[in-house]
Amino acid sequence: MCPDIRSERRDDDPDARLEEAKGLALAIGLVIADAFILPVREVRPNTLFGSGQVENIAIASEQGEAELVVVDGALSPIQQRNLEDRLKRKVIDRTGLILEIFGERAATAEGRLQVELAHLDYQQSRLVRSWTHLERQRGGYGFLGGPGETQIEADRRMIRTRMGRLRKELEQVRKTRTLHRERRGRAPWPVVALVGYTNAGKSTLFNRLTGADVMAEDLLFATLDPTMRAIRLPGVEKAILSDTVGFISDLPTQLVAAFRATLEEVTAADVICHVRDMANPDNAVQKRRVLEVLTDLDVIDGEDGTSEIPLIEVWNKVDLVEGEALEDLQSQAAAADDVVAISAATGENVEALLERVSELLTANAKTYEFVLDAGEGQKIAWLHQHGEVLADEAAGEGGLDRRVEVRLTPKEAGRFAAL
Ligand code: GTP
Repeated sequence: MCPDIRSERRDDDPDARLEEAKGLALAIGLVIADAFILPVREVRPNTLFGSGQVENIAIASEQGEAELVVVDGALSPIQQRNLEDRLKRKVIDRTGLILEIFGERAATAEGRLQVELAHLDYQQSRLVRSWTHLERQRGGYGFLGGPGETQIEADRRMIRTRMGRLRKELEQVRKTRTLHRERRGRAPWPVVALVGYTNAGKSTLFNRLTGADVMAEDLLFATLDPTMRAIRLPGVEKAILSDTVGFISDLPTQLVAAFRATLEEVTAADVICHVRDMANPDNAVQKRRVLEVLTDLDVIDGEDGTSEIPLIEVWNKVDLVEGEALEDLQSQAAAADDVVAISAATGENVEALLERVSELLTANAKTYEFVLDAGEGQKIAWLHQHGEVLADEAAGEGGLDRRVEVRLTPKEAGRFAAL
């Protein structure tokens, strides 16, 4: 169920939020017995909802034979516990749900470590706070069969030790990854990053562009770790396409760090494609959330909203839009030069997207003239591979040197200089 706390999220449409929450539940294979919105005018510290509402949830859970109640909002440890008591069922909140999904999806070593760390952090806060709560009640031992004080102390210690170990392991993994990134930074290929709200269609587009088989599912957060593949673009020999984790509103604080780490790949990109699900009625809010994250990462300037890295909006799923809405969307896209409307599913207009990406990658390219001696064959080959060679002819005395005229982007020129 979805508490509609108006003061918190004024720009969200409650129906869209409920749909998203259902999507999250389905993402970990839950079967939904019932789903509804409850307007919360006044937050009750003990149960979040008013007593009549709790009663309604209890009735709906009975009728639907629900084993679990998911509240799409934040519950304090006390609220969670009280709701569990009253509803006689397990209750989890949005953070708990997202942590579950992440736990299932994380595939790389770093992803798994991050998620476990986030989970422990979440558990720890529940443990600590429910313990003080119990202490206040002076019934701390064996309350509802829960752990006594010593047990909680022991649990806390265990969690702290484990978290310490995880942090060390993470640091190691990160070091390795930074190294990889640096090496890639020196590699001669530009990087194109796909970003977008969860379920926008990034993996589908990634697969279409690379012919790879990245899991594309109608499941939120099917992609948790960045995935990279080489692609070909018109006029660019080769580029690296990177698929990233989907964004979501109200990301649990424990997972923000995990997200940041994964998204740092984006800050090293040469072009960013922001994939949007134009068939989702809530897509304007989703776009805002994505831009907020990019601003957090310093990709977008917080003051004037300009992007450090060239950014294209990819209006995806146009095959699901019809009639007037489609016409509007197409004409808006045509009028803006940083927008390309496509369907990753059908492939419609994907070529135009690739051309736009190439244009941005090769914009600012300049023509250079190099005179190299014949022994520098490797450098000449490099220029052919990475630049657009306009002339390559014999020069110098006896024609022993070669004069190469070539268009290079600033980045490629820098790399050539490093050779
Ligand atoms: P996360 O992994 O959650 O970040 O999702 P994602 O952005 O990678 O989305 P994904 O590619 O997994 O697509 C989500 C769902 O939308 C899948 O069911 C896709 O088949 C569907 N989808 C993607 N692109 C299109 C499209 O252009 N048209 C239609 N009709 N469906 C699409």
